[in-house]
Amino acid sequence: MQQQRGQWSGRLGFILAAAGSAIGLGNLWKFPYVTHQNEGGAFVLIYIAAVILVGFPIMAAEVILGRRAQHSPVGTFSILSRGRPGGRLWSAVGFLGVGAGFIILSYYSVVAGWTLHYVLLALQGKLATLAGDPGALQDHFLNEFLASGTQQVSYHLVFMAATVGAVYFGVKNGIERVAKVLMPLLFAIILFLLVYSTTTSGFGDAMRFLFRPNFGDLEPSAILEAVGQAFFSLSLGMGAMLTYGSYMQKKSSIPRSVLEICILDSAMGILACVIMFSIIFTFDLEITQSATILFTTLPTVLVQLPLGDVVLGLFFVLVAFAALTSTVSLMEVVSSFAIDELGWNRQRATLVMGSVIGAFGVLSALSLGANSTLSELNLFGKESTGGVFSSLDYLAANWMLPVGGLLIAVFVGWVLKSSDVRDELETGHGPLGSMFSMLRVALRYVAPIAVGAIIFSIIFLGAEYQ
Ligand code: PHE
Repeated sequence: MQQQRGQWSGRLGFILAAAGSAIGLGNLWKFPYVTHQNEGGAFVLIYIAAVILVGFPIMAAEVILGRRAQHSPVGTFSILSRGRPGGRLWSAVGFLGVGAGFIILSYYSVVAGWTLHYVLLALQGKLATLAGDPGALQDHFLNEFLASGTQQVSYHLVFMAATVGAVYFGVKNGIERVAKVLMPLLFAIILFLLVYSTTTSGFGDAMRFLFRPNFGDLEPSAILEAVGQAFFSLSLGMGAMLTYGSYMQKKSSIPRSVLEICILDSAMGILACVIMFSIIFTFDLEITQSATILFTTLPTVLVQLPLGDVVLGLFFVLVAFAALTSTVSLMEVVSSFAIDELGWNRQRATLVMGSVIGAFGVLSALSLGANSTLSELNLFGKESTGGVFSSLDYLAANWMLPVGGLLIAVFVGWVLKSSDVRDELETGHGPLGSMFSMLRVALRYVAPIAVGAIIFSIIFLGAEYQ
């Protein structure tokens, strides 16, 4: 099996794929939306702290595990835990990750489908007209599009098919080539919009909203959500980075690559917020549903540019692609589990698992207004988790990923031999000196205690979730 494992062509291959996994709807759709729900300021600051203190070390831990074991998450834990404390029990972390990947992909692909709808609207020449009137755009999105079961399910299934297609044809071929061209283009548009947003009258308000923290009424629940969002956005806690690490060459530097990915990913989310909130404050947009921000703010500005309709269409093509490089990494975790542990071939693993996830995702697709039972099903008793879609997002992003990440940190910090961890980190990088001790402290103490304390306070101290 080992010989068949593909490898990235050098460090850039890994960075592109891992950044492709990290950068996606989590940055462009979800971060602005949860920031809006949690009133900015303190939330953004905690998010940044979570990326530095918890995200960076755990991403390094995942890549170390993957590159060391050269296996899927489940296999990795059973191989590396042999003869160590806890033994095979650690495989549970791998299963938890496969479960999280399954759940996230099922609803993520619904949102990814929305981008396809926008591309289609742009091709038909309808998007520019809608975007010319923010009210009409919101109305279309909420009342026609989300409420249409047929459309929600169709776009979701088309996106799942695209994901399955990309994974079906192997690691390098599918993803790497396109990522090289389209990711920089997405960055260029975002930077352009950033420059534009500094000229708007709402820019100052946006900066105050995002960066002036008010810790007064911060709930532990918002802290959990910020941490959950960091895990979600960095693709951590479920083995995606572990799987990509398993394709990483030994001559590539883990710490440097991980640092670059963390910076790129956080920049993308924060810039997206600066742009979207500048637009919201400038045009005094009333956001009735936070989850639609990406789809109702940027179009209103892009459409005013010369060749606005073309730029608008192109922008959603790029977002769709950013989403695809993320769904591919989610699919990769689930199918490489079936390949390595169930002995299926890649084609079978991808087709079967992809079909099951696609079918399960129909429940989320119908829970956004099309079917009232699914829309009202509230699994966690929290107001904003109403509906299958939000309940699954809440479960996976705020619980499964942080718990998975906590266990990964404990495994690398306490269970693996320190000399092995150091060896893997220094391979391709060179001696780390005191950097290694810092990372080790982060993995042994900081990350587990931070995540553990939040979970503890919510479960045992009954801290209210909003
Ligand atoms: N990080 C991706 C995004 O921000 C989502 C994702 C989560 C991908 C977990 C893989 C694993 O869009």
